[in-house]
Amino acid sequence: MREKILTNLSKEKFVSGQEIAKKLKISRTAVFKHIKALRKLGYVIESVPRKGYRLIASSKSLHPLVLRKCLKTSFIGHPVIHFDQVASTINQIMLKAEKSDEGLVVVAEKQSKGRGRFGRQWFSPRGGIWSSILVKPNRPTAEAARLNIIASLAIAEAIEKITGLDIQIKWPNDVTVDGIKVAGVLTEMVGELDRINFAVVSFGIDVNNKIPSELAKGEKPLATSLKEVLGTEVDRVALFCLILKLFEDYYIQWQESDFTPILRAWEKRCLTLGKKIKIKGVSKVLEGKAAGIDENGQLILKTDDDKKHVLSAGEVTILKG
Ligand code: BTN
Repeated sequence: MREKILTNLSKEKFVSGQEIAKKLKISRTAVFKHIKALRKLGYVIESVPRKGYRLIASSKSLHPLVLRKCLKTSFIGHPVIHFDQVASTINQIMLKAEKSDEGLVVVAEKQSKGRGRFGRQWFSPRGGIWSSILVKPNRPTAEAARLNIIASLAIAEAIEKITGLDIQIKWPNDVTVDGIKVAGVLTEMVGELDRINFAVVSFGIDVNNKIPSELAKGEKPLATSLKEVLGTEVDRVALFCLILKLFEDYYIQWQESDFTPILRAWEKRCLTLGKKIKIKGVSKVLEGKAAGIDENGQLILKTDDDKKHVLSAGEVTILKG
């Protein structure tokens, strides 16, 4: 019903409560209650006695009612479950994963226990985009890391399109502006040896939020937000819709045809390749040249003794020289 009320509101003129009530066959009190609920969602609606209601501004929230205007996907984001605040979108989607179809998206305005790679805390205040996508690809587990490639490429391209900024990716999945992280991707998978049952692709983007001072300080800060870089707010709704659309397009391309063009597009944005790097893995630290990336997104590192190492995860520092 809130959706129907919204389509009956106009930015140009006032529409009376009575007119809406008559059209939608509900009482004027019911109209008023729905207007109140819409205001709570962030819609700015003016009301003037004897004139009625006028829509002043759309909501900036990532609620599905707001997204419906711009979400052009066929299955990603159908449905979107929205939380004003939640511990972590990952926990929520994991609870529903077995019984849900692929495409389910969970998004929150704020997370109290957001988590990042290596079990690190992920600061998730209002103003960012904190989301998880459920997928059930019909693929062997060895290909699961391709989801990181798809997600980080979709995020990088969407940010570039919406903001005009130049966006690079630091292997494996940090999305950066001028080498400073603005978004991260985390993929978790449940599967058997040769088959992915389901995977949860999660991402956090620092859009209009503040960054904690310990990450934002210094000559080379560890993180920044799009608002900080641009000096102006970014349309989170448009950005989120575009990310979901690009993610869906690449996901379908991978499932139905060829992953190679996706990998090539990702490589073009990768600031790690060809550089001298230090990589901290689970058990050891290695130094060498980032020589390439294999078809599943694993990094090929060539150490000074000319040995090749194939790495699927790790924390990269780009070395000078
Ligand atoms: C990284 O460490 O770079 C990955 C960060 C992933 C953060 C996102 S925010 C939405 C989802 N919920 C979480 O608790 N973490 C992920």
